Amino acid sequence: MAEGSSFVVVANRLPVDRVTGPDGETEWRRSPGGLVTALEPIMQKRDGAWVGWSGDAGKDDEPFESDGMHLYPVSLSEDEVARYYEGFSNATLWPLYHDCVAPPQFHRSWWDAYREVNQRFADAVAAVAAEGAVVWVQDYQLQLVPQMLRKARPDLRIGFFLHIPFPPTELFAQLPWRQQIIEGLLGADLIGFQRPGGAQNFLRLTRELCNLRPRAGAVEVDDEGASRQVRAEAFPISIDFDLMDGVAADPCTVARAKEIREELGSPAHVLLGVDRLDYTKGIGLRLRAFRELLEDGALSTPETVFVQVATPSRERVEQYQVLRHEIEAQVGQINGDFGSVGHTAVHYLHQSYSRQELAAMYRAADVMLVTPLRDGMNLVAKEYVAARPDLSGSLVLSEFAGAAAELRQAYLVNPHDLDGVKEAILSAIQVDPRTAARRMRAMRRHVATHDVMHWATQFLHALGVAEA
Ligand code: ADP
Ligand code: F6P
Repeated sequence: MAEGSSFVVVANRLPVDRVTGPDGETEWRRSPGGLVTALEPIMQKRDGAWVGWSGDAGKDDEPFESDGMHLYPVSLSEDEVARYYEGFSNATLWPLYHDCVAPPQFHRSWWDAYREVNQRFADAVAAVAAEGAVVWVQDYQLQLVPQMLRKARPDLRIGFFLHIPFPPTELFAQLPWRQQIIEGLLGADLIGFQRPGGAQNFLRLTRELCNLRPRAGAVEVDDEGASRQVRAEAFPISIDFDLMDGVAADPCTVARAKEIREELGSPAHVLLGVDRLDYTKGIGLRLRAFRELLEDGALSTPETVFVQVATPSRERVEQYQVLRHEIEAQVGQINGDFGSVGHTAVHYLHQSYSRQELAAMYRAADVMLVTPLRDGMNLVAKEYVAARPDLSGSLVLSEFAGAAAELRQAYLVNPHDLDGVKEAILSAIQVDPRTAARRMRAMRRHVATHDVMHWATQFLHALGVAEA
């Protein structure tokens, strides 16, 4: 065990996804979602190992290097992808942890697969980690890994971070395997949440389900006769501010942003949404608000254009297929009713983009709409702020996104309150440039000083990593 990595990140996905084309040719692409956005810069700065799945079922890959990171693929069969990833992770835990905005499904065979796959990830980490290494376990797909890893490798320092919300105790209590999940997490030395409420919910559950006595943000557990302290705290995640700020300030990005506005028909107002196509993101509600504003005559086309980027996500999970049909039907109806030859009211883009192109879209947008029903953080909101060095642009942000606790100068909305969302959109469009700049400056100052390096440093410092 003298060999091995002294810093290991383990996440469901590797930072790159293998995509197999129609002719069987494969290529590696950046994986979707906020977790990779946050961890990539951290890993590139440290010479660590990243253990995760390649995103392609049934493939056995050797370890490889990518963008200065050492990647260790874990393989999953088709059946495991169906039961562990699409099933337990994304049709049980995901809706349950997002306030049950869709009904969670409970199936024993999905739970069995979750346990088996968590054990495989724990075994893979145990094989890669050097004696006394720091292991950072990521997100809801791997909540049993801390305990499994501690059993196999008590020498390790184990941190866990939950990227999504941790639900209220009454909702969590629905889960038939609630005690096993809490015990799984308690294998860590430090458990990080996006918001203080998540840490409090978790600690309350250690009392209710495991008969422990949490106190002052921590709880003592018994490890085969020895007492060990587990801390639970909030560490709000963030983005690489300097990177996004730099890309957005690049003259090529500025030129591309101008070009995008021209391609949209040089409208007076551009509204933008950028989300994974997920039912937690409130895309349908935001489209409804836009439609009503057009119906009321408060907005009109072609003066106002709405661009919705909806990144493909979890496409084999039924709820995501239903959502896609609903959103595409809504977009079609708005365009049918309010578009004209050569002028589209809603530009719907079901594709992935490079960082440069996203930055150009952010710069091209007068109003960014981030209206999730529930979201752990929402990095898109922070990216928009970082991409506005010119201090223009306004952010409409759901109160139910973790980011709302930090970006207080946004137009904060309850996404269920359609009239409130409509008013916020109008205020954001009509704001005078000096007020917009004041709001944007304050938000940028916050994100610049609370960037992803700050997040990682705080977490690793709390975990006891010396040169965090
Ligand atoms: P989640 O983790 O739920 O997907 P976040 O807003 O926290 O939500 O993170 C989403 C990340 O994915 C952001 O970094 C965003 O830039 C990126 N992203 C979203 N849509 C696209 C897209 N179409 N192409 C490329 N990156 C995207
Ligand atoms: O941040 C939440 C999250 O589920 C991450 O764990 C994940 O990387 C991202 O969203 C994208 O989801 P998926 O890996 O299921 O495509």
